[in-house]
Amino acid sequence: MKNSELDSWDRPLRDLRISVTDRCNFRCRYCMPEELFGPDYSFLSSEKILSFEEIERLAVIFSSLGVKKLRLTGGEPLLRKELPVLIRMLKKVDGIDDIGLTTNGSLLKGFAAELYEAGLRRVTVSLDSLNEERFAEMNGRRSKVKNILQGIEAAAFAGLQVKINMVVQKGVNDEDVLPMADYFKAQGQTLRFIEYMDVGNSNGWKLDHVVSKSEILSLIGERHPLNKIPPNYTGEVAERYEYQDQSAEIGIISSVTDSFCSTCSRARISAEGKLYTCLFASKGTELRQLLRSGKSDMELKAIIREIWNQRSDRYSDERTSETGQRNKVEMSHIGG
Ligand code: GTP
Ligand code: 5AD
Ligand code: SF4
Ligand code: SF4
Repeated sequence: MKNSELDSWDRPLRDLRISVTDRCNFRCRYCMPEELFGPDYSFLSSEKILSFEEIERLAVIFSSLGVKKLRLTGGEPLLRKELPVLIRMLKKVDGIDDIGLTTNGSLLKGFAAELYEAGLRRVTVSLDSLNEERFAEMNGRRSKVKNILQGIEAAAFAGLQVKINMVVQKGVNDEDVLPMADYFKAQGQTLRFIEYMDVGNSNGWKLDHVVSKSEILSLIGERHPLNKIPPNYTGEVAERYEYQDQSAEIGIISSVTDSFCSTCSRARISAEGKLYTCLFASKGTELRQLLRSGKSDMELKAIIREIWNQRSDRYSDERTSETGQRNKVEMSHIGG
């Protein structure tokens, strides 16, 4: 008999990515371009975003469906007031072994110690260049490289395990691949290169903007020989490589040229409480109303289980120039 917690391609539900705010203090061109997310843009009002109690309740229900790992995202999650309080609450949820946070790092210096005290143990910082001018150009001139590097340092000093994410775009920051690799190799920190993806509807993505996994690997491998190493867990998005001198490891997230949908065990909840079963989904299921409608945990669990059972998403496996035209959820709503 089919296990009731599997989707239609027999994939279990293991990870839940929760966006805690749709706001961000950056305006990365590939995510929230300034022209579309200007001063008049209306972000979600506070009653429209899930409360900490609602997020905690969902974590309990998802854990009972098999979720072991939570990741808090945004927008920029550190803009959500009192985020460490939420982390404390989620740490207590039975069955959750791991909580991660994906941040742009700009506020990390001030938050690192408090996050660690709240029980967070790992953080992933997005950083696309070490070159001040290119970094400013990419994030809408909102922060300096130095500030992010200080945030990374503060996080490591506080005891957090740190990974760095770099989205690589041809002609934009591909010349930063080697300097980034050199810098984080010397720090002994894990840098992951992400193939530029066609998420959302605002970034004007084209296939020829992508720097492929094989291009990145040959670029770095020529300078610093690499060995492939096994995943930390089944369904890990990044393929791992270790420098032969064992100074550090890197990861490649190749959603475009070598997709990984067959092992995808991730569900996502947007800041307004919609459940998405794929990063590229065009439609989510409204959970906020259900949470506020007096339904019991058992009823909510049955609804979520049914959605997961029906799930057939494999966008990256099916990606063609036509699928790019689909209306997709914005990255700033579901945090990647
Ligand atoms: P770890 O817990 O360290 O393995 O974290 P992670 O790699 O799951 O999280 P992170 O937020 O660092 O994600 C890295 C990148 O992979 C982001 O750009 C995500 O958008 C992308 N990513 C994560 N999950 C998926 C997925 O299911 N599909 C696709 N296409 N990309 C994903
Ligand atoms: N392609 C690939 N990665 C992206 N991210 C945001 N937009 C894109 C995109 N179009 C990354 C962020 C962050 C992670 C959650 O997703 O830089 O590291
Ligand atoms: Fe940039 Fe992340 Fe903010 Fe999007 S959510 S604008 S990728 S920092
Ligand atoms: Fe999962 Fe969708 Fe990403 Fe495929 S494209 S790995 S189904 S989130």
